[in-house]
Amino acid sequence: MAKYRVHVNDPLDEEATEMLMSKKELEVTSGYLDKEKLLQVIPEIDVLIVRSATKVTADVIEAGKRLKIIARAGVGLDNVDVAKAREKGIKVLNTPGASAPSVAELTLALMLACVKGIVKASVSLKEGRWEKKGLTGRELLGKTLGLVGFGSIGQEVAKRALAFGMRVIAYDPAKPKTDLPVEYVDLDQLLRESDIVSLHVPLTEETRYIIDKEAISKMKDGVIIINTARGGVINEEALYEALVSGKVYAAGLDVFEVEPPNDELRRKLLSLDNVVATPHIGASTHEAQKRVGTEIVQKVFEELGI
Ligand code: MLT
Repeated sequence: MAKYRVHVNDPLDEEATEMLMSKKELEVTSGYLDKEKLLQVIPEIDVLIVRSATKVTADVIEAGKRLKIIARAGVGLDNVDVAKAREKGIKVLNTPGASAPSVAELTLALMLACVKGIVKASVSLKEGRWEKKGLTGRELLGKTLGLVGFGSIGQEVAKRALAFGMRVIAYDPAKPKTDLPVEYVDLDQLLRESDIVSLHVPLTEETRYIIDKEAISKMKDGVIIINTARGGVINEEALYEALVSGKVYAAGLDVFEVEPPNDELRRKLLSLDNVVATPHIGASTHEAQKRVGTEIVQKVFEELGI
């Protein structure tokens, strides 16, 4: 007889789902339940597996009388009330490195799209124009990239940026050990010296609005800002004003404070020509989803000792 009930509330990779199904110790259910329905079933669940859509709030955790593990297939834990889970002795698992190459590749794609004006060029050509004049871009070669956050994703970005001939500097209070030729600097120095600032920090009380009006004012004129981390780490109003004034040359954004973006964001930030935007697809590659899914399931097995 199955010992543990597992509910998978967000889509999970096929191979990972098969791994779960293959264990006789597990009774597995899957399918998205909204908050109200989740609250009804959670008292019977031992392991809850989620991605980013499900918000594992304090009341869900409180109602999880049998809950032993909250498994987040992905990096960010901002959709899980980790403090509440800890208080209840519930283990929270995630997969910090599994999607790093995919997020790093999107970061480089956004950087290149910004310096080369790729989206603008493509739209204008498809609309029947051949306007090379307004499309003189910039090179990455020789530019300084400032990485705010130097965990697994920041490091993957650095490797790729170094291959493009960039100088890479990083701000990360934890200063992870690295063999990469990357210099650690404080945040002010990073803001002053970077041609491109790219964010790779989780959203926490310390990092909320780490890029605000004051931080932007310290940056070089014509800086480029890339965000594939979390929306709340940039003050979007301050970024909008800086993009309009030309202080910021362009921004590549995969994440937003409200997802999907609200009308105000569509009308302002997303309407600008110098913004390249994608709908939070950093980890959305087949390879990353397979790694994320199989790694989180493996971690659940280890935790349950099965
Ligand atoms: C992550 O935190 O894993 C990525 O942002 C993708 C996601 O939210 O699923």
